[in-house]
Amino acid sequence: MKLLILPLMIILFSCSKHEVGFKKGKTFVGNQKVSAEVLTLGKHVYLEYCAACHGEMGDGNGPAAKGSVPPPRNFKQGLYKFGLVADGGLPTDEDFVRIIQGGLNGTAMLKWDISKDQALAVTQYIKTFAPQVWESSENEPGTKVELAADPFTMARKEAAVQKGKEVYHMVANCQTCHQAYVSKEEFSKLNEKYNGEKVTDFEEDFHEPKIQESEYYFYDSNERFAKYLPPDFTWHDVRSANTVEEIAWRLAAGVTGTGMPAWKGTIEDHEIWAVAYYVKSLMELKGDKEARRMFKETLK
Ligand code: HEC
Ligand code: HEC
Repeated sequence: MKLLILPLMIILFSCSKHEVGFKKGKTFVGNQKVSAEVLTLGKHVYLEYCAACHGEMGDGNGPAAKGSVPPPRNFKQGLYKFGLVADGGLPTDEDFVRIIQGGLNGTAMLKWDISKDQALAVTQYIKTFAPQVWESSENEPGTKVELAADPFTMARKEAAVQKGKEVYHMVANCQTCHQAYVSKEEFSKLNEKYNGEKVTDFEEDFHEPKIQESEYYFYDSNERFAKYLPPDFTWHDVRSANTVEEIAWRLAAGVTGTGMPAWKGTIEDHEIWAVAYYVKSLMELKGDKEARRMFKETLK
């Protein structure tokens, strides 16, 4: 008898966990009212497509999460990287839908082939894992970061790339976390132009990305934080951007909770666009072994 009851209980228990929907709606940041039906739909989508990695409890510890670099997001924390929002604010629903339908290049987070309604519903469901953030009356909805129109356009691409190279190494100093993409000699010349002095002292990792601390913690502890390696644009995937325009918006918004700052307001909008053209030119070396090898030679 016992032998029969146990499997039956497991079946009943797991069914009830899956099938019970929401009886009441919820109100999220910005007085956004979400119905019980939408949350229930979102839960179904989540259990079908997302829980394997992000975990049934939303803690980022699903069975398929093991060994995933980067690790799947722990939704209980309520912190997100890829909103296009000002000042590290909360992503908008539009941001979530873009991320869920578009995926994140080079990670286990694929483009999920679900409808916009499903993506919106699962977005609302994800919010329920972090009530301290989404149901708090103290939080405001995020607002889209602002960025002036592209002052270069493809017609002046070469000029933009050259300007971007200088902004990257001299104005924004991106190489302090990422890496330099010019030789030491060229860097020294640029520094003479911008700061009136030569550079002779270089760190050993001048041409290497430097791993950075983040605010993201793993499922199992509030102590163990994820560290992220800034991408080498000629080698790694840029997760959230493919085009110059997408790169420019990403630079403006930064990657929230990681070392990657939001550049809006720190450098000028035209400088953001110039660097975006420059980063894109480096990304074009990816996948072209010979071109990349020759480029690396010029760094020596
Ligand atoms: C095969 C594993 C996998 C599955 C399945 C998966 N994800 Fe992800 N997801 C990831 C990983 C890995 C990241 C972290 C990427 C990073 O840190 O750059 C991520 C990140 C995210 C983020 C955070 C984006 C941000 O801006 O921080 C959201 C939201 C998200 N996933 C939603 C979903 C939804 C919704 C589904 C189901 C439709 C889903 N994921 C299914 C692996 C997965
Ligand atoms: C303080 C350290 C730091 C500085 C300075 C910095 N970055 Fe980053 N950057 C990072 C880290 C860390 C990541 C990876 C975040 C992750 O893995 O989610 C990153 C990621 C990126 C990405 C990829 C975003 C994506 O969608 O995957 C781009 C593009 C980028 N940085 C460009 C730049 C440019 C251009 C500059 C200078 C204007 C710059 N970064 C300055 C730390 C930095």
